[in-house]
Amino acid sequence: MTTATLEPTTAALNAPATTTMRAIVQQRYGHAEVLTPAIEPIPTPAPGEVLVRVMAAGLDRGVWHMVAGKPYLMRVMGFGLRRPKTRIPGMDLAGVVQAVGSGVTRFKAGDEVLGTAIGAGAFAEFAKLKEAQLVHKPANLSFEQAAALPVSALAALKAVRDVAKVQAGQQVLVIGAGGGVGSYAVQIAKALGATVTGVASTGKLRHVLALGADHVIDYTRQDFADDGPRFDVIIDIAGNRTLRHLRSALKPRGTLVIAGGENAGNWFGGMDRQIRAMLLSAFTRQKLTSFVSIVNLPALKEIARLAEDGVVTPVVDRTFTLEQTPEAFAYLESAKACGKIVITPSTVPQQG
Ligand SMILES: NC(=O)c1ccc[n+]([C@@H]2O[C@H](COP(=O)([O-])OP(=O)(O)OC[C@H]3O[C@@H](n4cnc5c(N)ncnc54)[C@H](OP(=O)(O)O)[C@@H]3O)[C@@H](O)[C@H]2O)c1
Repeated sequence: MTTATLEPTTAALNAPATTTMRAIVQQRYGHAEVLTPAIEPIPTPAPGEVLVRVMAAGLDRGVWHMVAGKPYLMRVMGFGLRRPKTRIPGMDLAGVVQAVGSGVTRFKAGDEVLGTAIGAGAFAEFAKLKEAQLVHKPANLSFEQAAALPVSALAALKAVRDVAKVQAGQQVLVIGAGGGVGSYAVQIAKALGATVTGVASTGKLRHVLALGADHVIDYTRQDFADDGPRFDVIIDIAGNRTLRHLRSALKPRGTLVIAGGENAGNWFGGMDRQIRAMLLSAFTRQKLTSFVSIVNLPALKEIARLAEDGVVTPVVDRTFTLEQTPEAFAYLESAKACGKIVITPSTVPQQG
């Protein structure tokens, strides 16, 4: 990041008048208390990069992991051993293109975009991303909805369509159906023609039904495995249930896809359960598997098209101002949100 004013030669057609911006920064790993407001230099787009005025930024579990530095394995893998390498958190964003670096061909100042990147620094008034990390925002989505789309919807698409290969007529169980990934998983499984049962806590059952689920199970009152093996597919997004428990609800040739789950250990964050599932899969007729969702341009284009076609509709539970980011973070930790939480760094777009 530099403090230089944007140069007209880098197509700064709509350059901000100042060189600084409001942002949220973190100097160390932790929880809401490490997120503090600051004035930071506006990034300058290098060749192939796009500067976006951030209208809305998504907050999800992936961002939580990066702020908290957990599981610790992440720190070893390059996110920063003692403190985060990226000072400004936030990945998913939607906003208005302010300037483009040389060589950028798909965007111009004034375009409405959405996108995501690890280290994008979306919790700020401006963020710069590579051209390939952005797509045009579907006109039918608000900025808030668009920012709630990328990471969670792509994880759900990968789990339900690409890994589980859900077919019309199948019985699909979505565990964690009321959350960020789960809300999309329910919609995608329904769009593929499955009969969907969503597992959630009492307060989210109505939300899950509104997403299109055929049945809901309140896990605080009932065990989804009570009636024996009846699901062709289980998408496991929350709860860290044992493989034995999950398999007892799965048909003999059924497919279990583990997306993740919180509070499963500081070092590996539950990845050990996912690895055990994949190893065990070789010895059973059930398919037990997991995945890591990789965001690339074709995937971003596809999820934007699905939103444009109304196949998925992002559900935003609450929005918070930039300065309220610590509150948003605490709200995420409370797991009360139905769908997604969004932060709104800018209120007025600067159109070209
Ligand atoms: N593999 C990948 O590439 C990938 C990609 C994205 C996310 N993930 C992972 O997916 C997980 C979920 O992410 P998210 O963004 O959807 O989180 P989220 O928005 O916090 O949603 C999780 C949901 O699970 C519910 N839940 C909690 N305990 C439960 C239990 N015992 N049984 C059933 N539901 C329970 C929570 O609400 P209620 O308890 O109130 O129902 C909440 O709605 C995270 O661990 C994340 O890291 C993985």
